[in-house]
Amino acid sequence: MKALILVGGFGTRLRPLTLSIPKPLVEFANKPMILHQALKAIGVTEVVLAINYQPEVMLNFLKEFEAKLGITISCSQETEPLGTAGPLALARDKLIDGSGEPFFVLNSDVISEYPFKEMIEFHKSTWRGSFHCGNQGDNSVDEPSKYGVVVMEETTGKVDKFVEKLKLFVGNKINAGIYLLNPSVLDRIELRSTSIEKEIFPKIAAEKKLYAIVLPGFWMDIGQPKDYIAGLRLYLDSLRKKSSTKLATGHHIVGNVLVHESAKIGEGCLIGPDVVVGPGRVVEAGVRLSCCTVMRGVRIKKHACISSSIIGWHSTVGQWARVENMTILGEDVHVCDEIYSNGGVILPHKEIKSSILKPEIVM
Ligand code: GDD
Ligand code: MG
Repeated sequence: MKALILVGGFGTRLRPLTLSIPKPLVEFANKPMILHQALKAIGVTEVVLAINYQPEVMLNFLKEFEAKLGITISCSQETEPLGTAGPLALARDKLIDGSGEPFFVLNSDVISEYPFKEMIEFHKSTWRGSFHCGNQGDNSVDEPSKYGVVVMEETTGKVDKFVEKLKLFVGNKINAGIYLLNPSVLDRIELRSTSIEKEIFPKIAAEKKLYAIVLPGFWMDIGQPKDYIAGLRLYLDSLRKKSSTKLATGHHIVGNVLVHESAKIGEGCLIGPDVVVGPGRVVEAGVRLSCCTVMRGVRIKKHACISSSIIGWHSTVGQWARVENMTILGEDVHVCDEIYSNGGVILPHKEIKSSILKPEIVM
């Protein structure tokens, strides 16, 4: 089986992290986003990456994983962004092999329990002629207008309507960005910049040939800082249920916390809930961390307090500093001692010498 992952897009909403590497490579729970999709287990042998931004970085990185994962990875490179459907037309020859088998198409920035097996079974059970199976999350999301919304018959899964980012409320079942498509869908897609959500799915739904299942378990688009942090909580919750031994334990741990084996944690720290501690990271004595993720190679100095924030690679947070409210430090940012950051979004390679009292971008 084959899968195409939509990895293009500039990832602007996840800046400043995406100023350093493409969004799909940004770590989530100590693993690049894109590697959370366990495709091998369900029989995918070939993955096509639809890329339009920083292709060299992606390629170098993934060659390393090709062997480890035992999957063939190839790139389909756009010279200009082709949206979410155009890349399928561009990769047509890679996706079609005459077998008539369906293939997966995945957004690269969603995190879930990926119900690939359920989707294959559902696809087989509804396949008559040219059905296409979209998948949709049933989160009672606060803002369905941020997503594609699916109006479906609950019993059969038949999609009546697919609408992308409509301000008007039509339902709260949202498109999860995980699809299993029959090759015949390619006959509907032209080689130009085009949106699968706006131009392709609404038409297939109108013909009553689009089907969906309600996603079991958790789901989150982690392409924006606030959702990234919310996704962390859901992910760690599910880890607690499925393989709790991976989570940290000890008197200094509260709730669900994932600590990389190479991270060093000092005396008297209080860590959690919902914290991820990346590799090579040093947390000095008396530090307080909650609802945050700290990437590789970071140093958190004594008695610093960090909550609801993301600390980018190789940054430092000074002694007694207080970093909170969706503060995002890009790569190599240094927050001086005793500084307060209330929602500062700091671009890479900066030194922060004075406090940031309200949410703002620091260039
Ligand atoms: N190759 C390529 N080329 N990929 C692209 C391009 C492009 O021009 N534009 C976007 N992508 C990729 C992104 O990297 C991402 O993996 C996926 O396509 C979706 O793009 P986003 O920019 O993340 O879209 P969204 O989050 O606003 O909305 C989409 O995802 C929601 C769920 O997370 C839509 O599919 C919604 O319907 C859906 O609800
Ligand atoms: Mg997205």
